[in-house]
Amino acid sequence: MSGEAATRPDGTAHPHLSRRTFAIISHPDAGKTTLTEKLLLAGGAISMAGAVRAKGETRRAKSDWMEIEQNRGISVTSSVMTFERDGITFNLLDTPGHSDFSEDTYRTLTAVDSAIMVIDAAKGIEAQTLKLFEICRLRDIPIITFVNKVDREGRDPFEVLDEIEEKLALPVAPVVWPVGQGSTFHGLFDLQANEHLTSAQGRNGACDTARAMSGPNDAALDAQVPAAILSDFRDQVALASEGYATFDAAEYRAGHMTPVVFGSALRSFGVDQLLSLIASHAPSPRPQPSDAGPIDPAREKVSAFVFKVQANMDPKHRDRVAFVRFCSGHFRRGMKLDHVRSGKPIAVANPIYFFAQERALTEEAFAGDVIGIPNHGTLRVGDTLTEGERFRFTGLPSFAPEILRRVRLEDSMKVKQLRRALEDLAEEGLTQVFRPVVGSNWIVGVVGPLQLDVLASRVAAEYKVEVSFEPAPYAMARWIRSDDPAAAAKFVRENKLDIAFDRDESPVFLPRTEWDLRHAATNHPDVTFEAVREIV
Ligand code: G4P
Repeated sequence: MSGEAATRPDGTAHPHLSRRTFAIISHPDAGKTTLTEKLLLAGGAISMAGAVRAKGETRRAKSDWMEIEQNRGISVTSSVMTFERDGITFNLLDTPGHSDFSEDTYRTLTAVDSAIMVIDAAKGIEAQTLKLFEICRLRDIPIITFVNKVDREGRDPFEVLDEIEEKLALPVAPVVWPVGQGSTFHGLFDLQANEHLTSAQGRNGACDTARAMSGPNDAALDAQVPAAILSDFRDQVALASEGYATFDAAEYRAGHMTPVVFGSALRSFGVDQLLSLIASHAPSPRPQPSDAGPIDPAREKVSAFVFKVQANMDPKHRDRVAFVRFCSGHFRRGMKLDHVRSGKPIAVANPIYFFAQERALTEEAFAGDVIGIPNHGTLRVGDTLTEGERFRFTGLPSFAPEILRRVRLEDSMKVKQLRRALEDLAEEGLTQVFRPVVGSNWIVGVVGPLQLDVLASRVAAEYKVEVSFEPAPYAMARWIRSDDPAAAAKFVRENKLDIAFDRDESPVFLPRTEWDLRHAATNHPDVTFEAVREIV
C-alpha cells in the first residue's frame, strides 16, 4: 500500500505495514473530540459514547483545570489511542486543540504519518486549522478532510471545497457527498463504494445503514429521498465530478491532494468511510529523518524518539511518562535500548500501551507504534533510542515563546521545589524556563496567556508552591548561535543584563525591543538570533 517491500526476508509481512499512525487537526469546536470518540467506537475501542474524556470545551476552560487534574488518568491516556480493525492497527495521537498549546501539538505532528483535518461545514477553514495545516505541509503529512456537521445548516459543499482549494492551495477530491444538508439532510453518498448511508432510526438517527447502489442515479434512491433534494444532490455530484479531481491515492500520499468526506461526527455519518480511507490509503510508517539520513521502517534494528513527556501522571509518585514513537525494528519488553544523548543503555521494563481509557503493559511494538515509558527524568523530548546505534532523529522544533514573565515565589523557602516544578513542566513543553545571568528570578516563556494560569495552578497543586507572574521587560527570546564560539561568548559577555540560559544551558538573548534585536544583529554579524531551534 505504501509502495515498500511487503515482506520480510522470511516471507512474512512487515508488521509496520499494518500500522496507521495519525492525528486529527482542527480549530476548537469543529468536532475533534466527538470524531475521536466515534472513531474509537467504530474501531471497537470503547463501547459507549461519552467514555473518552471531558468534552473539548471542558478540557480547555482554565477554571476546570483542577477537575481535569482529578481526571488525569483519562485525559492523559488519550494522548495516544490505539485500536485495531480488520487487521489494521490505528494509533491516534491527540493534539491539544487550543492554540496556546501549540508547541506540544507541533511535536505530536512529528510523530504521525498522516492527519485528518476536521472542518465545521458552517465555518470553513479557521485560524488554528490553517496553522496546523501548514505544519503538516512542511512535513509532507498527507491529509484527509472531514467536513463535519452536515446534519446542521451550513455552507454549500462547493463553497467549502473551493475555500479549501484556495486557502490551502490543495486540490480536493470529494469521496463522500451529503444528500441534502441541515433540515434537508438525507444521509451521505459514498462515491467510491456507491452506497447510500442512512439511519434506520429515521431522520435524526445515527448512521447505521449502507445501501448498495449502482451510482448516484440509481432509481432505488428515489424511494429514499424526496425528489427535490435528490435532484439537487444529483446535480451537485455531476457538477463536482466535472469540477474537482478524482481521488488518486498516490497524489494524496504525496500531499498533493486531499480526499474529502462530508459527514456528521455527532451522528456517526462518514466515520466508517474515514476509517476505511485511512486503512486503505493512508501511509504506513514512513522513513524518519535523522542525522544519518532517513531511517527506513523496515530496518531490523529498533529505533525510536521521544516526542512528548507527561509529568506527574500519578501525583503520588511524581512519575513521568515519555511518549515514544518507534521508527524501525521489533521492540520487545525488557529490551535494553541505547539512550543516544547520554550514551547510556536503558532497560525498558515497563512499556505502557494505551488502549482507549486503559493502559496495559505491552510486550512488543513495531514502527509506527507509540508507547509510554515511565522514567524519572532520564528521557526528554527529542531523545533518540536505538539498538546500539549512534544516530539521532532530527526535526523536533522548539519555538521561542511569545510571552515572557518573571516568576514571583510567595514563600522564599521553596526555591528548590520551584526549580523542580519549572524544570518538570518545561520538560512537558507546558512552559520554557530561563535563568538570567544577572538576578535570581526565573523567567518563564509561554506561547499564550492561558498557559500561565495552567502553570500556576499545576505548580500549586502538584508541587505545593504558590507563584505569581510579573511582567518582564523583555519583548522576546532568541537563541544565540554562532559558528565562532568566541563571537557568541563575546556577545554574551557584553550583554549580560539581557542574557539568560535555557534548560540546556544554551544562551538566550532577551531583547527589550525590536530595535535592540536589529541593533545586536548589525553589531554582531557573526552571531545569529534564532526564533526556532531544533531540540538536541
Ligand atoms: P472540539 O473537540 O473540536 O472542540 O469539538 P467537540 O467535539 O467538543 O464539538 C463541539 C460541539 O460541536 C459540541 O457541541 C458537539 O456536540 C458539536 N458537534 C460535533 N460534531 C457535530 C455534528 O456532526 N453535528 C452537530 N450538529 N454538532 C456536532 P456542544 O454544544 O459544545 O457540546 P454538547 O453540549 O453537544 O456536548
